[in-house]
Amino acid sequence: MTSDAPPIDPDIRYRKIDRVIPGQPTSDGAGVRLTRYIGSQSLSELDPFLLLDFFESDNPDDYLAGFPSHPHRGFETVTYLLAGKMRHQDSAGHNGVIEAGGVQWMTAGRGIVHSEMPEQENGRLAGFQLWVNLPATEKYCEPAYHEYPQSQVPVEKRGDGVVIRVITGHTSGGISGPVSGIATRPLYLDVALSPGAQLKESTDEQHAAFIFVIQGQVDVIADQERSTLVAAQLGVLSEGNRVQFNAGGSGSRFLLVAAQPLNEPIVRYGPFVMNTRAQIEQAVRDFKSGRF
Ligand code: FE2
Repeated sequence: MTSDAPPIDPDIRYRKIDRVIPGQPTSDGAGVRLTRYIGSQSLSELDPFLLLDFFESDNPDDYLAGFPSHPHRGFETVTYLLAGKMRHQDSAGHNGVIEAGGVQWMTAGRGIVHSEMPEQENGRLAGFQLWVNLPATEKYCEPAYHEYPQSQVPVEKRGDGVVIRVITGHTSGGISGPVSGIATRPLYLDVALSPGAQLKESTDEQHAAFIFVIQGQVDVIADQERSTLVAAQLGVLSEGNRVQFNAGGSGSRFLLVAAQPLNEPIVRYGPFVMNTRAQIEQAVRDFKSGRF
């Protein structure tokens, strides 16, 4: 028997789209309008990811209220801005402004109280906040920051219409992001594809992974299967050690994010994410008595 189809390599397992999450419009903080993808009714978590919010507006009424002083314990918050400026300030004396293309990876650990406020009164504000869980052994670690402006986020330009901004993890082209030493060994890429361009990348096989389409549309290709995602959709990817994405006719921009699942109990109560109910009660007591 002969076939023209290329042989299937048993060592390559392409990730497919398991689920498409449309996002749930909501508001948070003091009244910031946003769309929640992870931590929503349709996807409560994607271990180790606890929450993904996307905010995008050129109407100041949607964002001016910001996120005044609030605590976190037990996980990491990752802010990546596409447009505009956000100022953050915290109980440890940390203060700074994240601008478009910049990232702040904050490890809340045993506890931090901070505010995240728009540093603008008009114009477009757009970006993401992702929450990444910490393993039980690190939930009480000292708070820590990785913060990098756009100029310190390396850009890999491939000759075939592929441009990758590498925030953390590394690409097959050998580019590593500036955020390092994170417990769940994450990959966080902001990928731009020219019309018809293709991205092929390796991924850690057991890591949880998703793609979020910022602009245009993208086909996720796994052997004979092809699923199309459009802007503002999140696709949960199956396990696998390879991804293949093809841009539509107007090109595409998307996030590709992956990390190691923790497979530990998750008990969440607002801004506290711990392993047991007793730890949550302790967090509330500690916060109320000013021990953060
Ligand atoms: Fe926060």
